Amino acid sequence: MAIREIRESGDEILKKKSREVEKIDERLQVLIDDMIDTMHEYNGVGLAAVQVGILKRLLVIDLYDDKGPIAMINPVILKEKGEQEVEEGCLSFPNQFAKIIRPAEVIVEYTDRNGKRIKLKAKELLAQAISHEVDHLNGEVFIDKIIPGTLEYVTPDDSNKNM
Ligand code: NI
Repeated sequence: MAIREIRESGDEILKKKSREVEKIDERLQVLIDDMIDTMHEYNGVGLAAVQVGILKRLLVIDLYDDKGPIAMINPVILKEKGEQEVEEGCLSFPNQFAKIIRPAEVIVEYTDRNGKRIKLKAKELLAQAISHEVDHLNGEVFIDKIIPGTLEYVTPDDSNKNM
C-alpha cells in the first residue's frame, strides 16, 4: 500500500477518457488499495484512477460511514433523477470549492473488486460523488461545470467535499 501522487489542474491527463478495465488482477488490487490510501491521506470522499495518472475506468469512494470504502470498476450510470445544488471540491484542484448542480439520485452499475456486477441506487452525497468520479473517467472536471460566480479559494476542513 502506498500514497500515489495526485495529478493536478493543468495536467493534460485529466482531460483524457479512461479505458475499460479488462481484468481484475493483482496489479489492479494494488492500485485499488493505493487509491483508497491516497483518498484517505488527503481526506477525500472519492478518487478516480486518472487522478493518480492511470487511465482506467476505476474509482473509489468513502463517505466515512459504516459502508467503508467502495471500489467501482467500469461503472455505468444507467439513470439520473432530479437535481441537487451542492458544494464541491476536487483533489486535483486543491483549495478550490464551488457550487454545482448534480443529480439528486443515480442508478449505477459497476463491477466490484471481487468481480461481481452490482446495481446500486445512490442519493445525496453518494450520488454526487459517483457523478463527479464518472465525469473524471470521461475526461471532465468539476470546474468546467460549476455555477458561475461561486468559486472560492479556501483551506479545506472536514466539512468540505473533496473528490
Ligand atoms: Ni475530482
